[in-house]
Amino acid sequence: MSKIHAAITAVNGYVPDYVLTNHELETMVETNDEWIMSRTGIKERRILKGEGMGTSEMAVPAVEGLLKKRGISAEEIDLIIFCTVTPDLTFPATANILAHKIGATNAWGYDLQAACSGFLFGLATGAQFIESGKHTKVLVVGGDKMSSIINYEDRATCIIFGDGCGCALLEPNDEGLGIMDSILKTDGSGAQLLYQKAGGSVRPASHETVDNKEHYAYQEGQAVFKFAVTNMADVAAEVMERNNLTADDIAWLVPHQANKRIIDATANRTGISADKVIINIERYGNTTNGTIPLCLWEWESKFKKGDNLILAAFGGGFTWGSIYLKWAYNS
Ligand code: UT7
Repeated sequence: MSKIHAAITAVNGYVPDYVLTNHELETMVETNDEWIMSRTGIKERRILKGEGMGTSEMAVPAVEGLLKKRGISAEEIDLIIFCTVTPDLTFPATANILAHKIGATNAWGYDLQAACSGFLFGLATGAQFIESGKHTKVLVVGGDKMSSIINYEDRATCIIFGDGCGCALLEPNDEGLGIMDSILKTDGSGAQLLYQKAGGSVRPASHETVDNKEHYAYQEGQAVFKFAVTNMADVAAEVMERNNLTADDIAWLVPHQANKRIIDATANRTGISADKVIINIERYGNTTNGTIPLCLWEWESKFKKGDNLILAAFGGGFTWGSIYLKWAYNS
């Protein structure tokens, strides 16, 4: 009997309507479109507006669209893995909230937090339940409402991040297609270079933490950049080498969208030509857990069954990793 792989069988995405342009940011902080474009490649990002709107608000239309595309009902989902750093609430899990909102009454689920690498960690984790035969339909959601933890007076972070959510369905495949390999890494020594200082058990919310603006994302950009630029490129190259893949074998590189310069470095290191590198950072900025599934969603129609894809990410924590998969369907 041939090995069962976990294959992506449907993808979808959702971004909010409100477009926050570089020009609008120029009216909020000391910055300019030329600086943002040349340093990051970002032109605009989406923001989820409205009272009481959490990350699950974006996941609902994303997942409902996926179910429609795949022609299945929410009751058929076995497991929901919700990858996010901006859960609706600290607890219960946003996976639970989403399951309730979409009517996934037979699913169990949990949230997974690995910063910007979360969606890759989620895919690799979800794949285990498929490969073991435990489940046949695992939904991996990656999304963040980054605007809920961004200080729009801090030009070091507010120009980068945006809101958005994507999702992928994993199902068993016996044709040799799906997730073939993954390399995932963490290094806690970088924890304080990109993090939210307060709100956890070390420093619970207080008047002082709010006054000090410690509930916003804090980043030492240059230091993070140095780690990201080497590690994301190296791990993508490592997964290719260990599977005897050259750049010619790769149809698409799907990188986390943190900074165009980091994406270019990964493409150069792996030798993958620019026409095969998926980039939408210009329109969405860094949506953290949303970047990779949003790329898959937007490029889905170009993928062909059997295409070799390399997914790569780097995020706070630090976390980083790469997945090699064979695309399993023509859309
Ligand atoms: O997704 C998770 C992982 N995160 C990342 O991968 C992000 C990694 N880091 C980065 O992408 C980059 O470090 C940033 C985009 C955040 C910053 O770019 P940079 O090239 O590292 O800029 P910098 O912080 O070294 O600042 C260069 C200059 C400074 O001015 P001086 O000291 O040279 O006069 C900054 O004060 O640019 C200034 N600056 C800005 N100017 C206009 C910093 N932010 C801005 C801004 N607009 N928004």
